[in-house]
Amino acid sequence: MTSQATLRTRRLSLVPLAEEHLEYEVELDSDPQVMRYLGNGTARTRAEVERYHRARLAAAEQVPGLGFWAGFAGERFVGWWILEPPQRADQGPVEGQAELGYRLLRRYWRQGLASEGARELLRHGFEDLHLHRIFAETMAVNEASRATMASAGLRYVRTFTADWDEPIPGAEHGEVEYAITREEWLALPR
Ligand SMILES: CC(C)(COP(=O)(O)OP(=O)(O)OC[C@H]1O[C@@H](n2cnc3c(N)ncnc32)[C@H](O)[C@@H]1OP(=O)(O)O)[C@@H](O)C(=O)NCCC(=O)NCCS
Repeated sequence: MTSQATLRTRRLSLVPLAEEHLEYEVELDSDPQVMRYLGNGTARTRAEVERYHRARLAAAEQVPGLGFWAGFAGERFVGWWILEPPQRADQGPVEGQAELGYRLLRRYWRQGLASEGARELLRHGFEDLHLHRIFAETMAVNEASRATMASAGLRYVRTFTADWDEPIPGAEHGEVEYAITREEWLALPR
């Protein structure tokens, strides 16, 4: 049983990721443009996505309320959003924190949807789950992801290097962390 809430924005329904969403994840991860700055920078096979799918469902079991959400505009799958507990020691304590992420089908890019969903996850994280800090990480060269973080109200914190098994073009510029605290979120213009 999931303890995640179903969330709504003006254009999106965000529902806890479930077994029935696998085909959508396969479509998403099969696009090399979507995967350009993720994993080893290439499209994933169905077998690989099935493994990620199981890990994504398991993520919802780690901390009550956190996990993956499948986003729909009407009946149409748009992509997924995530709030997950910190996974590495340098990300700080698990208590009170979550990492924000998103991945959208290419046909829905540049319509304000990623940031619309991200803003709702910030609201949910701070207001409903009582988190005190939400952060996000991406490759420094992933302009779209960085712009989405900034658009939702997160601020640049640091550039750091990650140890990848198979570094992809751009990895030499490092990773960036953006973050927002509850106090900063409360002070954002509504
Ligand atoms: C990152 C991603 C989710 C952005 O989705 P999106 O729906 O196009 O983002 P939005 O339309 O909400 O745009 C948010 C902001 O980013 C800007 N932006 C979006 N794509 C951009 C790009 N390619 N270059 C520069 N800015 C970009 C928008 O102009 C907007 O800025 P504004 O609010 O100041 O006007 C999408 O590009 C994606 O799925 N990429 C592949 C997966 C990925 O890299 N995920 C992040 C991994 S950390």
